[in-house]
Amino acid sequence: MKKVLSIIGARPQFVKLAPLSKKIRQNFHEVIIHTGQHFDENMSATFFKDLELPNPDFFLGLGGGSHAQQTGQMLIELEKLLLSEKPAAIIVFGDTNTTLAGALAAAKIGVKIVHIEAGLRSFNRSMPEEINRIVTDHLSDLLFAPTEQAVKNLRNENLGGNTHITGDIMVDTLNYALKKNRELVNNQQYDDYYLATFHRPYNVDDPQKLKTIVNVLSSLDRKVIFPIHPRTNKLLKQNEIVPGYNLKIINPVGYFEFITLMRNCRKILTDSGGIQKEAYILEKPCLTFRPETEWKETVESGWNKLVDYNSEDVIDEIVNFRAPVDRPNLFGMNVSEKMYEILKEKI
Ligand code: UD1
Ligand code: UDP
Repeated sequence: MKKVLSIIGARPQFVKLAPLSKKIRQNFHEVIIHTGQHFDENMSATFFKDLELPNPDFFLGLGGGSHAQQTGQMLIELEKLLLSEKPAAIIVFGDTNTTLAGALAAAKIGVKIVHIEAGLRSFNRSMPEEINRIVTDHLSDLLFAPTEQAVKNLRNENLGGNTHITGDIMVDTLNYALKKNRELVNNQQYDDYYLATFHRPYNVDDPQKLKTIVNVLSSLDRKVIFPIHPRTNKLLKQNEIVPGYNLKIINPVGYFEFITLMRNCRKILTDSGGIQKEAYILEKPCLTFRPETEWKETVESGWNKLVDYNSEDVIDEIVNFRAPVDRPNLFGMNVSEKMYEILKEKI
């Protein structure tokens, strides 16, 4: 059996690996490396449990620090593992520092790189993720693009030759959760609420912007449930920002619980990448507190709206937002199966 190393470290990467890991183990020897970028129980271990992901073979414990510290330390440790494990390929996911470090370590020593969720572009280079995406795509040997738009972006950068359109892997995880989670969903009673998540540095690192977001969330026409990312929580406390009565801040929740919260909410207010897609698939109107998005198909469909939270009309915009009836399939289905077939042929 050929050996592949799946390199993960941040919450959305546990979600993306889960369905693929189950498939590739039929024909590959998979070794999982967890860089430790996310490490709290409710940001990491919970996902392994909910999604029945095998425990990582290696845990590097490299969370926190600046971009250079985090990426640099990962690079050093990943190179050692690549040299000792001698895989036929590595698989990296999305656009985090873990993705970049994995790709860079492998490229330097000539190990094949598979990039899942290739071709995403926000065209905003002040986002650390945009840099990570561009570099990873250009280093990769196999690019798995989730959408037509992603394929177009890769072609524009002369990367079309190694690109395969597969659909989005998060579709498979979501379908798995919906099957497993049915009982829980039906058993729970919920009030009428909006669901919020925010963690992008340009929204939460600046105290003034964070305060504005908290004020907006506290001024809506119904309750807001906000499972708070550790980055945002630290900044809220540091800056002594106090939420209003209507804003219910809770700890981050596990995947099943989050899907349940999404399924039962009125609308989703977010700056997350993955949640914009999940909102679309779950038929929830989404308001994205960003000037642009790499998931622009969701905006073009009318189900996702970019919001300027400094605007005077922001409350009305959120309250009055309605999604259209049409909701074409943007993200495909049976995605892990497609990826597995390509991997069998190309690795
Ligand atoms: C990272 C990714 C971002 C992704 C997000 C998903 C990069 C550059 N950013 O952002 O693309 O959307 O993950 O959630 O890779 N922390 C904890 N406990 C944890 C995890 C983080 O306390 O379990 C703290 C860290 O110590 C750090 C801060 O939160 O101080 C930010 O963590 P980091 O992984 O650097 O960036 P994210 O904002 O999580
Ligand atoms: N998620 C979760 N619990 C939470 C918040 C998010 O399980 O409290 C899941 C969500 O369903 C999605 C993923 O985490 O699958 C998105 O992670 P995040 O927003 O941190 O990262 P991004 O997608 O922006 O990179």
